[in-house]
Formats: sequence, structure tokens, C-alpha cells
Amino acid sequence: MLSVTGLTKRHPGASRALFNALRFAVGAGEVVALVGESGVGKSTLLNCIAGLEDADAGEIRIGPDALDMHRLDEAARASLRAARIGFVFQAFHVLPTLSVAQNIAVPLLLNRVPSTEHAPRIEALLRRVGLDGFGPRWPASLSGGELQRVAIARALVHRPALILADEPTGNLDPRIAGEVLSLLLEQVREEHAGALIVTHSRHIAECCDRILELSPEGLR
Ligand SMILES: Nc1ncnc2c1ncn2[C@@H]1O[C@H](COP(=O)(O)OP(=O)(O)O)[C@@H](O)[C@H]1O
Ligand SMILES: [Mg+2]
Repeated sequence: MLSVTGLTKRHPGASRALFNALRFAVGAGEVVALVGESGVGKSTLLNCIAGLEDADAGEIRIGPDALDMHRLDEAARASLRAARIGFVFQAFHVLPTLSVAQNIAVPLLLNRVPSTEHAPRIEALLRRVGLDGFGPRWPASLSGGELQRVAIARALVHRPALILADEPTGNLDPRIAGEVLSLLLEQVREEHAGALIVTHSRHIAECCDRILELSPEGLR
């Protein structure tokens, strides 16, 4: 679902490369934890994979037909990102002026999924994340754990090949974090997607299929 080779990134003006010739892959149904000290470049790596930041060298192939994100122009990149990637951010990024159902519908609109499919898909996902009946609610009335479950539903609704999650449970108390993570793992495996999850939590990393540690020396 994801194959990265020779990936190198150096921020303009930085004295050394943040990472150099990284190579790794994530298979279908596989959940990989990405750990490493703060500032080591985990978020930058996720942004490069999503095509939100440019890498200086390397290939990033996403999805079953392994399209190379960085060979595409900006418009093609945006539509590949919308179609193949689901994001879950630490700060949820649930839009406050849209209802829960409208938030989850955003990837369906971006991918022009026929509107007759929206309600059944959204309702099925809300049920699976334990938020049955929450569709018409406003985000302001939800708890942190509920908001993160909305963000997970939104990341999965368009059935992406790859889920990228940047500290998805960082703002949650440990019990809720555990529940949210199991849900994410279960959904990724069920959909045969691949997932790369940045986490600070040893416990969460150990629940994943594999752990990659990013350090200034590279990945291990
Ligand atoms: N746009 C940028 N320009 C220059 N340096 C940056 C930029 N974005 C991030 N950095 C630096 O790159 C390093 C890695 O950041 P980041 O990927 O956020 O690390 P992590 O997510 O592992 O904590 C940090 O030292 C950060 O200050
Ligand atoms: Mg980060």
C-alpha cells in the first residue's frame, strides 16, 4: 500500500538532511508504528508521503497500482491524496461549522462519490465507531474521544489505501486513547488498507504489527 525508497529531506537553510535515503514499506492490512524523539522528522515524513511537502529525492508509491506521488503535478497529486489517503491528526481538525455527518462527508465530496451513497456509508461508519445517531450533532457538543472517533470515520469513509495518523491519541486520556486506537487498527485491517501511525506511546506502538524508529541515523 506504501513503498518508500531513497527518501531524503533537507529543510532550506538546515545544516544537515533531516533524513537520508529512507527505505520502508507498509503492506495491505498492516499497521506500522513510527516512533522517535521530538523534532526527529516524523511529521515531515508523513507530510512528504502525503505530498504536502516536497522531498529532495526518493520515490513514494501509494496504493495497489503504486503511483508515484512526486512524479505528478499539483492537481493530480491533490486528487491522488484525496482518493488514496486518510488522515487522522492529533488535533482532530473536525470542522466546527459542519455537523458530524457533514464532516465525515468531506472526502466523499472531494472524490465525487454519488450522493445517494453518502448517508448509508456515514451511518454505517458512525455505528462502527460507536457514535450511532451522532450525525446531526455539532462538534462543539462532543468530547475529545468522540471527536477523534469522528476524525477516524472521516479518514476511512472513502476507503483509502493508506491511513496516515500523526499522534492520533495524543490529546486523549489513556483509556479513551486505547479504545480509539483499537478501533483504528480494527478498521484498517478490515478494509485491507495500510497504516502508518506516529505515536509517543510505547503501549500503542506495541499494539501495532511493526515498529519503525526514526533517529538522525535513519530508520530502524
Ligand atoms: N518548514 C520547515 N522549515 C524548516 N525547518 C522545519 C520546517 N518544518 C519542520 N522543521 C524542522 O524539522 C525538524 C523536524 O520536525 P518534525 O517533522 O515536526 O518532527 P517530529 O514530528 O518528529 O517532532 C524540526 O527540527 C523542525 O523544527
Ligand atoms: Mg510531529
